[in-house]
Amino acid sequence: MMDALRETNLTDAVMDLVDVEAATDALHCRGVTKHFSASLDKKDRPPAKNRLHGLWQRIVPPRRRKLAVDNVSLKLKRGEIFGVVGHNGSGKSTLIRMISTLLTPDAGTINVFGYDPQRDPYKVQRLINRVSVDAAFFKKLSANENLLYAARLYCVEDKYALNRAEEILKLLGLEEGRLTDSLQELSRGMQQKVAVARALLTSPVLLLLDEPTTGLDPKSKRDVQDFILELQRIHDATVLLTSHDMDEVERLCGRIALMNEGRFVARGTAEELKKRVRERRAERAASGETADADKRSNGNGEVTMEDVFIELTGSEWLSAEEDVD
Ligand SMILES: Nc1ncnc2c1ncn2[C@@H]1O[C@H](COP(=O)(O)OP(=O)(O)OP(=O)(O)O)[C@@H](O)[C@H]1O
Ligand SMILES: [Mg+2]
Repeated sequence: MMDALRETNLTDAVMDLVDVEAATDALHCRGVTKHFSASLDKKDRPPAKNRLHGLWQRIVPPRRRKLAVDNVSLKLKRGEIFGVVGHNGSGKSTLIRMISTLLTPDAGTINVFGYDPQRDPYKVQRLINRVSVDAAFFKKLSANENLLYAARLYCVEDKYALNRAEEILKLLGLEEGRLTDSLQELSRGMQQKVAVARALLTSPVLLLLDEPTTGLDPKSKRDVQDFILELQRIHDATVLLTSHDMDEVERLCGRIALMNEGRFVARGTAEELKKRVRERRAERAASGETADADKRSNGNGEVTMEDVFIELTGSEWLSAEEDVD
């Protein structure tokens, strides 16, 4: 498998370049908070002064401050794959965008291998890479041109970058011939594969994967997952992953946090989270209560990660704070 990946210890080379001590945690977030402005709900708006004002309010409603990420603390050891799951709009991507220097937190601190994304954005950018579900490309340029552009930004040699990208994409099942097609000619899944290859060109030591497999067919999904595991195994890469695929999260992540309305409401290993759900069900059964989720369960008492998601995203669980300093 992947000679280019194995040929040098790229991770160590990057760590030396950016001057990172081996013992430093890969990521340490403390009390990270982010607000956005959002439209005020109809019920919360001040009464309209007249019909025209009412009509105007419907078109341009008054705004309010909305909490997207609320006091999130998180510590990732080097080589760990940590998953964040939560409902749409729960704040996962916002958290990742703050870590990747794209957004400034309103409060709290972030350290990527000891560097602050706001104070040392270039060092942090050298250490991380992000794959997002809405990856931005130059759509009229070919996959190869887009990959070369990214490689040059990171001072990766053209020939090496193209060889490496070709190998990664071959592994992900994208035919070589498609690399010269413009991005707009590729399907969404194919574009997603190019985005994954682009992120891995620069040998990031912290990979921020925001729904990296959304839109991929089951085989490609499995290939990307295997690749992530391989990167962790060979290169000691640290991964922060968001996903709506509970099987994927269980397969890849050592620890998982459940996010709800901007906060981490539960975290632990898949087994710990399942155990918590089993305990809750037992408590409910003992008190004669039955929740909808219990009725839906498959009757053999087995708890899946989907059950964990449904049960725990709506609730507070104290161990969510477990590794907060
Ligand atoms: N640039 C922005 N301006 C205003 N509000 C934003 C912006 N980006 C995100 N939000 C809001 O912040 C909240 C969190 O959004 P975010 O994209 O982080 O959620 P998410 O957990 O990644 O959701 P999904 O699972 O759908 O990807 C949402 O209410 C969203 O509307
Ligand atoms: Mg998102």
